[in-house]
Amino acid sequence: MAKYIVLLGPPGVGKGTQAKVLAEEIGLLQVSSGDLFRENLKNETELGKLAKSYMDKGELVPDDVTIAMIRERISRPDCKDGAILDGFPRTPAQAEALDTMLASLNSRVAVVPYISAEESVLVERISGRWTCRASGHIYHEKFSPPKQAGICDIDGSELYQRADDRAETVVNRIHVYLTQTAPLVDHYRKCGKLVEIDGAQPVEKVTEELLSDMKKLLNR
Ligand code: AP5
Repeated sequence: MAKYIVLLGPPGVGKGTQAKVLAEEIGLLQVSSGDLFRENLKNETELGKLAKSYMDKGELVPDDVTIAMIRERISRPDCKDGAILDGFPRTPAQAEALDTMLASLNSRVAVVPYISAEESVLVERISGRWTCRASGHIYHEKFSPPKQAGICDIDGSELYQRADDRAETVVNRIHVYLTQTAPLVDHYRKCGKLVEIDGAQPVEKVTEELLSDMKKLLNR
């Protein structure tokens, strides 16, 4: 059966960083709703323009639009073995829609790693984040700096700071997370799929815990 992993956690906790490592370690594709919106934004599509109006304020893009985008993405052949869902679902309606989507593919959510950290950690991480323009590789000016400032080590592309990482937007993103997404933690805990990880640890330690705790549920 295809394996779908849902990465849950507040803004800036390290979901994207870990999703990229996990993708290599377990051979599943990373599907990031935020990256898909940013790609649409870069290509100036109608979806990108609509998403921007919400992302700039730190609000969630409406469920129907987000669900349709993810449904289309995971129906592609490169997701036939499953995917690491980074940033989706983010509301109870999205979680319900995901269950329906996966049921139609004869599958289900296998495991939900929930990475958490205090707000001060999130703010420090977001304020120092730099992202690669070409492929979304993630750096931090203090915790994982590139060899050359402003340039991606992997593909040499320019690094930029996200528009929604401004201090006032970050405050709202955290508020939106607490009110709209955090209830999913209990939902997946009740389903027996939650694996809780302390995201305040160094990247390698978080990865180590994620892999060892997840494998138990993945191999059930
Ligand atoms: P999205 O792009 O998903 O943003 P987010 O969830 O707010 O998460 P971030 O990407 O900010 O952080 P992250 O947890 O991936 O951390 P990262 O690994 O980069 O969403 C953006 C917007 O799109 C939303 O606000 C919304 O508008 C819209 N959207 C997206 N999905 C949606 C959905 N499902 N429904 C509706 N709207 C949606 O790490 C952060 C920094 O910390 C980096 O610099 C990294 O190098 C560093 N770092 C990571 N881990 C560690 C560590 N362990 N130690 C030290 N530094 C670390």
